[in-house]
Amino acid sequence: MSTTAPEPKANMGNPVPRYDAVAKVTGKASYAADVPLANPAFAFLVTSAIAKGRIDSFDLSDARKVPGVIDVVTHETMEKLKEAKLFSDGGYTSSTIQPLQSAEIAHDGQIIAVVLADSFEAARDAAYRVRVNTTAAAPTASFSSPGTTSGRAKGQLAQFKEDPKVGDFASAFAAADVKLTASYETPTQHHNPMELFATSCVWNDDRLTIFEPSQYVYGLKNGVAEQLGVDADKVRVINAYVGGAFGSKGSMTPRTAIIAALARRLNRPVKLVATRDQGFTIATYRAETRHRIEIGASRDGKLVALRHEGAEISSRADAYAVGGTKTTTRLYACPNVDSMVSIVRADRNTPGFMRSPPEVPYLFALESAMDELAVQLNMDPIELRRVNDTMKEPIDGKPYTSRALMDCFDAGAEAFGWSKRDAQPKSMSEGDWMIGYGCAATCYPTQMAPAAARVRLQRDGRARIEIAGHEIGNGAYTVIAQAAAEKLDIPVEKVTVALGDSDLPPAPVAGGSNSTASTCSAVMMVCDQIRQRLFKAILPADSLIDKAKETVGLGQTQVTQAAKSDRPLDLETAFDALGVSMVEEYGEWKPDGAPLDSFRAMHNGKMRMVGGSEMKDRIAFAFGAEFVEVRVNRWTQEIRVPRLLGVFAAGRIMNPRTARSQLMGGLIWGMSSALLEATELDERHARYVNDNLADYLMPVNADVPNVEVIMLSEQDDRINPAGVKGLGELGNVGTNAAVCNAIFHATGQRIRKLPVRLENLQV
Ligand code: MOS
Repeated sequence: MSTTAPEPKANMGNPVPRYDAVAKVTGKASYAADVPLANPAFAFLVTSAIAKGRIDSFDLSDARKVPGVIDVVTHETMEKLKEAKLFSDGGYTSSTIQPLQSAEIAHDGQIIAVVLADSFEAARDAAYRVRVNTTAAAPTASFSSPGTTSGRAKGQLAQFKEDPKVGDFASAFAAADVKLTASYETPTQHHNPMELFATSCVWNDDRLTIFEPSQYVYGLKNGVAEQLGVDADKVRVINAYVGGAFGSKGSMTPRTAIIAALARRLNRPVKLVATRDQGFTIATYRAETRHRIEIGASRDGKLVALRHEGAEISSRADAYAVGGTKTTTRLYACPNVDSMVSIVRADRNTPGFMRSPPEVPYLFALESAMDELAVQLNMDPIELRRVNDTMKEPIDGKPYTSRALMDCFDAGAEAFGWSKRDAQPKSMSEGDWMIGYGCAATCYPTQMAPAAARVRLQRDGRARIEIAGHEIGNGAYTVIAQAAAEKLDIPVEKVTVALGDSDLPPAPVAGGSNSTASTCSAVMMVCDQIRQRLFKAILPADSLIDKAKETVGLGQTQVTQAAKSDRPLDLETAFDALGVSMVEEYGEWKPDGAPLDSFRAMHNGKMRMVGGSEMKDRIAFAFGAEFVEVRVNRWTQEIRVPRLLGVFAAGRIMNPRTARSQLMGGLIWGMSSALLEATELDERHARYVNDNLADYLMPVNADVPNVEVIMLSEQDDRINPAGVKGLGELGNVGTNAAVCNAIFHATGQRIRKLPVRLENLQV
């Protein structure tokens, strides 16, 4: 028996510095558009200046005269591509509006031509010389425009299955002691990742390599193969790093198959880096939403009736909706609940996922309404949440696997100094500044998806992990290395991790905050396989094994138990016993409740996400409480946010350093979303106006002087082997409401439309 105690593990749960930090700060990290190509042609997109109508003709003569121009491709000369199904409907694409396939124009900024040239400058020059004659029709821009059509979201796409309801809302609301009805609006927003939408395509005979920032290399590989009609195994997508995505790079956009087809036609690598403004229309965005909330409550604050109606903008072609009522109807105990989500179709590009897609707009509405109800009841808003806290969601009665919402509120109230708050609006000030304290709940579903991994371990303790996960700033390299180091009982410095390559074992989309839970669960499982092989080699000789068991042979159960335990493993002894210097294992993991076709779907780049409110016998969410201090200037109405505080309980925290960055980023984005971010729409032309980083407002350091993150420890064994809930999207869910609730406290003015700008306040 070993007499020395095993060294404490310094892996999972420790603030290990970011694996890719040095590469990133020294510029060694290579992004998709940085990859050098041999003799590339450069592509520049020409986009439509009308939002609706058709192209009558092109005049390409001036464009073709630009020295270095190779070709100008339009719908008249582009090859036909196969149709693509929407990601949210079980397909791959972000939009079924396929440019360059016909003369029809479906939205402003649609790709109508691609210039190919020997240099980027020549391509750009020629692109501005493309002349197009169009017949334009009056477009419909948004909710208030004439010509929109409206329909129920439910049943239109595979992703959108329910409008949750339970009990009898109408009677309960009618009979309620206290009633609240309020409407809320959220604006159009764009992701604006630092890294632009770039695509490089290189053919080697019939093999295609794509360098493109993607949150889902398996989806992109399979989607492009489908559109080009080629074998998916001949397509490879590579991106070691993604420079920001937030949902915008989760599904395939139409540009990729176009660039791949042009590279094949040219028999030459083609490189595209779309411009910032083109990114507003060739990819997705967060569409504007509208909400009507009705709450009936008893005098002591218990909800008796809740109705949440949401409406969202989508394109004419696609019934995309984020639909957050599946979360808002389950957050608090309430016997009578009703909800409905509608889609309003306008002449716009198809919207898509953006960080915490459903929860951000829908919880803004609910958590603002809860604050309004607290005011009406003359009740502390935290106490109102406590009275309605529940361990069972009200729609199907399923238990939460764990739920620390009130723990988060209590810890937050303490750290923030909530007791110093005078409940009376407009009661706190300092000099010219009116002070407000506000809070709101935050939550995000715990989601997981099938993933595979390959793990190689050497006799000297070095390990290599291969998985087609994605480093989108989330710390994927770091936490995967930590999970492997922990399981293999080796120092984290000895682990190398390969991600972002569709030739590696498949991993799901880095979206829906499922990455850490899914990839780490797969990696931990495969590390167990490695340990089993090694223990199998040494266990019979190990004195720990009971002699009696030795005589009947070593059962697989014992090997499995040893592998799964913390039991230290002497690698040299194990490798000597095996007679090799390296072992390698591949394995496929799927979460409980994943469908039978999970692994096949995983290889085909199709998502089989499990979790949140969609599990059979339980419901899994991460929770948090967010606190905001605002100061509103009495004379100028300038709004400042001196303090943001978030307390979160999200299962096991793999790495408090990377987790904290994620949550800080979320809180800052949430504040930005409440006070700054909006894509302005020219309603006459259905066109985005502020499509650049100068006019699209975002916070700078001076706007966020103090951001504090507190993570509560939470053990949840009912979610996944890693015990991870995911937190990439948790941080920015509650902030919109917390900011507006604080503004109400400071000024007595309730703002129900985001973003709140100083011109919206009359103080
Ligand atoms: Mo996230 S919006 O699911 O990438």
